[in-house]
Amino acid sequence: MIKVHNKAFEILLQKAEIEAKIKDLAKLFDVEYKDKKPLFIGVLNGSFMFAAELFKNLSIDAEITFLRVKSYTDTKSNGKVTEILGLMENIEDRHVIILEDIVDTGLTVNKLQIMLKAQKPKSLAIATLLYKPKAIIKPIKVDHYCFEIEPKFVIGYGLDYDGLGRNLADVWVLKE
Ligand code: IMP
Repeated sequence: MIKVHNKAFEILLQKAEIEAKIKDLAKLFDVEYKDKKPLFIGVLNGSFMFAAELFKNLSIDAEITFLRVKSYTDTKSNGKVTEILGLMENIEDRHVIILEDIVDTGLTVNKLQIMLKAQKPKSLAIATLLYKPKAIIKPIKVDHYCFEIEPKFVIGYGLDYDGLGRNLADVWVLKE
């Protein structure tokens, strides 16, 4: 058990099993995107650890970049992505894979898909480390995920609770 900002978390997924799943995903991409020089787009901040682990396990020619999204917020984030920040690359005619830390309601990925599709990539896929299918509000097609989890709050491996917990090597779930 650990405490972050006074909340208790218990272990959900260990570093070794996380890294094994990411390795499998990299192997799959090696085949699927051979000779296609795909562009991976990590969605900051949460995806940085997943993106790094995946990318270092790839053997094919591939590029990586990162973007942030600006969400419309009133009192709390409602996933209404209004803007893509920092994407310099021209993705027209490229094979693009969005890398997310977690798909929760699906609102972020849905908006990202719409905004990136407008730039006419050759293909657009979604890969996420964690997927909470029971939390989905906006039905989206998640092409690849490493772990399906219950709709509970998690931290670690890049994911935070109010800024903390991103450096944890394992994934931890909020204790009820
Ligand atoms: P969405 O609800 O699918 O739009 O998810 C938006 C973002 O909320 C994700 O990219 C995460 O950064 C964050 N998020 C959703 N669920 C969790 C969680 O359990 N822990 C930490 N961050 C989360």
